[in-house]
Amino acid sequence: MAEKRQFLRQPYSAYHAKPVPQEDVELTHVERGSPGGEYLRRFWQPVAMSSELGDLPLVVRLFGEDLVLFRTTTGEVGLLEKHCPHRGTSLEFGIANECGLRCCYHGWLFAPDGTILETPGDPPESTLRHRLVHGAYPVREYRGLIFGYFGPPEAIPPFPVYDSYDVPDDALVPYSIHYPCNWLQVHENVMDPVHTTFLHHRVSFSQFQADVWGELPVMEFFETPAGMVYVSTRRWQDKVWVRSNDILLPNVGQIGHLFEDGQQEKAFNPVAITRWTIPVDNTNCRIIGWRHFVPETDPRGIANRAEVGKEMVDFYGQTGHRPYDRMQREPGDYEAQVSQRPIAVHAMEHLTECDRGVTMLRRMLRREIRKVAEGAAPYVATPRLGGGSVTATYAHDSVVAIPPLPDTVEDRELLRRVGRAITAIVARGAHQAGDDRRDRIRAMISSLPQDLAADAAPYTAALAEPCQIP
Ligand code: FES
Ligand SMILES: [Fe+2]
Repeated sequence: MAEKRQFLRQPYSAYHAKPVPQEDVELTHVERGSPGGEYLRRFWQPVAMSSELGDLPLVVRLFGEDLVLFRTTTGEVGLLEKHCPHRGTSLEFGIANECGLRCCYHGWLFAPDGTILETPGDPPESTLRHRLVHGAYPVREYRGLIFGYFGPPEAIPPFPVYDSYDVPDDALVPYSIHYPCNWLQVHENVMDPVHTTFLHHRVSFSQFQADVWGELPVMEFFETPAGMVYVSTRRWQDKVWVRSNDILLPNVGQIGHLFEDGQQEKAFNPVAITRWTIPVDNTNCRIIGWRHFVPETDPRGIANRAEVGKEMVDFYGQTGHRPYDRMQREPGDYEAQVSQRPIAVHAMEHLTECDRGVTMLRRMLRREIRKVAEGAAPYVATPRLGGGSVTATYAHDSVVAIPPLPDTVEDRELLRRVGRAITAIVARGAHQAGDDRRDRIRAMISSLPQDLAADAAPYTAALAEPCQIP
């Protein structure tokens, strides 16, 4: 054994490699009854884009379950178990009418809630349809996406509305992309700021079309009342760019401006993407969400609504629909994440300082998964804005004018202070519960250079204590 370990520290040691250990089942598996799947089922999850559901039923697979989504001729949406309870014909071949979906084989008719309305081949006195209910899940259609709730009916949560849905002049354009790998490795990329420097700039080419992406940021990670953020702070000439992505527990990610170039001052600019990573099964998932189009976040005019929809989004490397040699020469997020194996094996990783966000996210998810497994309710962020119906989120891009210090090490420390100061403004303070939160945060960030020059202590002290969710 000692001899084998010695070989593993030497060149050409692959022959002595250890067998691949099992994946982290608790965090990654999602099939019925699995701890991770049971946790994710406690939240509203997107199922499809409204535009995918025309007059024909749509087969969807989520959490390892095959389902059929359909729309009645009066517009109501239903989500049913795929196979007819009579003799198993798939309801994807059913015909929708004004009150439900009729199985093609013997005409049983199902309401969106699974109630069996007719079994027309049986005698009129048959009571079968009153004694049987077909499996169905609650659905809700919201701004071009269809959501489902897959958990216990008695624990259905309110439908969450985030403040990022209500940015002036914002168009929310739905999109949906399949990833043939486990959901967690796609989701945790949202908390991996260092890959933006390498994958998206230095290693192949400048995928976001601005050199500032190649700067190595100062990186920090904080819990928020909704989940967690990364805080990545880059120096660009006489400016400092602070970027935060959100995780809203459990599987929502919000991603900042895609084509930021660090040139113009801005404060608390809204997100470019709100997206869910939803498990199809243990080794497949879908990103379903909205691409936000806000004119002020795209001064260079690069964003393109026409490239957003089914299996497409308007920035590089997000799908597998490119020639294989291009995927090899110019890999993007899709290649990096899918190729981590069908389910990334955490026991084989060598996590570093750069991976603190990933580690923190896994720890939070495991804590919540175990709560649900023990019979407790999972943590859900409390809506506080807009009269208590809207939940605050924390992702943003801000660029402030703060000249560099001559000493590189001291300038990195300055970046850290600025990142912390802005995060303290965004995630803390009396303004967090106000309808005017966005305006107040913007005003405070805009005056930050002067405030920091006067006294940095109140800002750095605000983050001395970690911001913990209950
Ligand atoms: S199999 Fe569906 S009605 Fe017979
Ligand atoms: Fe990325």
